[in-house]
Amino acid sequence: MDSRDVPAPTGRRDVAVLVPAAGLGLRLGGGTPKALRELAGEPLLVHACRRVAQAPSVAMIVVAAPPAEVDAVRALVPGATVVPGGATRQESVAAALSAVPATIDIVLVHDAARALTPPDLVEAVAAAVRSGLPAVVPALPVVDTVKRVDTADRVLETVDRTPLRIIQTPQGFPRQTLLAAHAQATDDHTDDAGLVERLGHQVHTVPGSDLALKITRPLDLLIATALLTAHPEVR
Ligand code: CTP
Ligand code: MG
Repeated sequence: MDSRDVPAPTGRRDVAVLVPAAGLGLRLGGGTPKALRELAGEPLLVHACRRVAQAPSVAMIVVAAPPAEVDAVRALVPGATVVPGGATRQESVAAALSAVPATIDIVLVHDAARALTPPDLVEAVAAAVRSGLPAVVPALPVVDTVKRVDTADRVLETVDRTPLRIIQTPQGFPRQTLLAAHAQATDDHTDDAGLVERLGHQVHTVPGSDLALKITRPLDLLIATALLTAHPEVR
């Protein structure tokens, strides 16, 4: 869908945002669960939740915390509902989803690791779901050249990148659609829209944001630090 089709923010507070934060952060290293690693003096999870809470549609935030850190996470994000996460992201999302009351119609699934995601992106995804779409994901164009290789890393072909997109979070769904998708889930998926896609629903895109990068490797933490320095207004 086109960004011009997204209705203006309504401030209806009809949205729950799930923030899986129970990962180990093995690719970042450092021994601390990634969501608790600091960026500019604050844990990634605090950055992520503060920005989500600034979106006028958001009624509640549910954090899936590392099981050993539930009390510490409650103290860090006192406005959020905190549940113990699971062994995979999908299990953590399912645990958070079960804490969303039936009065909430729209659920967004985010990542604590996308700590700098702007409130406007949360609002755009929420508005697109409210307009009646069954699944909405932020998307960015692919900037690099993409090639398909064989098992020996020899190039087989250059792939046309025009129709390819990098997909971010938050990903938004009607609550019932996400519940149905998770009830049907068998193997582990990295992305909730993939589960909803399997149910036969059309997934729609809205324009993503460079600020919604997923902090995965040490380089990403450096980039996020630079983004905060270059754009103090995104704090
Ligand atoms: N996540 C989670 N529960 C898990 C695994 C991941 O809640 N069992 C969360 C992470 O905390 C993160 C998001 O899912 O906010 C995206 O996952 P990823 O970037 O892969 O984070 P980690 O799994 O922590 O990192 P790594 O894969 O490098 O260990
Ligand atoms: Mg992971």
